[in-house]
Amino acid sequence: MTAKLNWGIIGTGFIADKFAGQLPEAPGAGLVAVGSRALESAESFCSVHGGKPLGSYAELLGEPEVEAVYISLPNHLHHEWTLRAIKAGKHVLCEKPLASNATEAEEMFDAAEAAGLVLVEAFMYRCQPAVKEFIERVRDGVVGEVRIIRTNFTFNRPASDSDPRYHVDMAGGSIMDVGCYCVNLARALANAEPTSCQISAHLHPSGVDDYAVGSLAFGDELLSSFTCGMRVDSDHTTYVCGSRGHLSIDFPWLGSGSFTLFTDEGPEKTTIEAPMSHYALEAAAFSEAVSGEAPPWITREDSLGNMQVLDDLRKQAGIPC
Ligand SMILES: NC(=O)c1ccc[n+]([C@@H]2O[C@H](COP(=O)([O-])OP(=O)(O)OC[C@H]3O[C@@H](n4cnc5c(N)ncnc54)[C@H](OP(=O)(O)O)[C@@H]3O)[C@@H](O)[C@H]2O)c1
Repeated sequence: MTAKLNWGIIGTGFIADKFAGQLPEAPGAGLVAVGSRALESAESFCSVHGGKPLGSYAELLGEPEVEAVYISLPNHLHHEWTLRAIKAGKHVLCEKPLASNATEAEEMFDAAEAAGLVLVEAFMYRCQPAVKEFIERVRDGVVGEVRIIRTNFTFNRPASDSDPRYHVDMAGGSIMDVGCYCVNLARALANAEPTSCQISAHLHPSGVDDYAVGSLAFGDELLSSFTCGMRVDSDHTTYVCGSRGHLSIDFPWLGSGSFTLFTDEGPEKTTIEAPMSHYALEAAAFSEAVSGEAPPWITREDSLGNMQVLDDLRKQAGIPC
C-alpha cells in the first residue's frame, strides 16, 4: 500500500501537462500546487489539473503541504531548482537529463543525500514493466552472449530559436535531449559503464548538435551504436544482438508493451500490459522510493554514469558542457 504523497509541479510546459494529467492514476498521489514564471500560466494549468496556482517557483517551494516536487524545466535550470527544492525540504523528481553536466548532477545527489531526501531522474521509460522485463531477459542471457546493441531516438521538428533545445547555454542539443535515452538503455542492457565512446555530430548554426551518431564499447566483446536527432525521422527500435538470437523492442521510450525474440526457432513475442498510464507509473514508483517500499528505479550511480557519457560525447563533438 503506497503512502500518500503531495506533489508540487515547477513549470507548466509540455511534459508537466502530461505528468499532471496522469498523476491522479497513481495511488496516493495528489497535486497540491503549481509554480510558473507567470501566474496566468499556473492558473490556466490548475484549471485543468487542479492544485493551487502560484506565480513563481520560489512560492511553490514555500508551500508547506508540498512534499515532492516535479521539475519540468529546461535542462540548464534542473541544477538550480533541484538544489532549491532540496533546501526547502522537498523530495525531487527531476526531468532528464538530470543536469547540464556530471559535476552538477553530483552536487544535486550530494545535497539530497545530506538532507535525507529522495532525488530521481525522470527516465519514465525505465518504470514500464515491458522495458524492465526486456532488460532482465537480456541480462539473463536470452540472446546468449550480447555482442551488439543498437538504440535510436529521434524526432522531426523544424529548428526554433524559442526552443531551449537549440541553445548551448540551456544544455540543449539532440545528444542531451534524446541521446540520453539511448545511452541510458545501452548501459542498462550492458549492465556496465562503457570503456570508450565516440560521436559523429552534425552541428546546427546555433552550436547544438541537431543529429548525431554515437558508439559505446563495453570492454572488448560488447559494442553499441545509437542515433539521435531533433529534425530527422527514424525508427525507435532497440535491438540486442547476441550469440544465439536477437531481441527487439519497437518504442521503449514511451513504454512499448511488447518485445520480440528472434532465434532459429522463429519469432516469439512477449506482451506485458502496464497497470496504469506511463507517467502515473513513474509517480507511483517515486512514491515507493520516498516511502522506502522500493529503491529508486534510476539510482544515483545510473544518473551519474549517464551524465558522464553525455559529457564525454559532447566534449568530443566540441559542444561546451
Ligand atoms: N520524460 C519525458 O517524456 C520528457 C518529454 C519531453 C521533455 N522532457 C524534459 O522535460 C523538460 C522540459 O521539457 P518540455 O518539453 O516540457 O519543455 P517546455 O514545453 O518548453 O516547458 C518547459 C517549461 O519550463 C519553464 N521555463 C522556465 N524558464 C524557461 C525558459 N527560459 N525557456 C522555456 N521555458 C522555461 C516554462 O514554464 P513556466 O512558463 O510555467 O515557468 C516552460 O513551460 C526538459 O528537461 C526535457 O528534457 C521529458
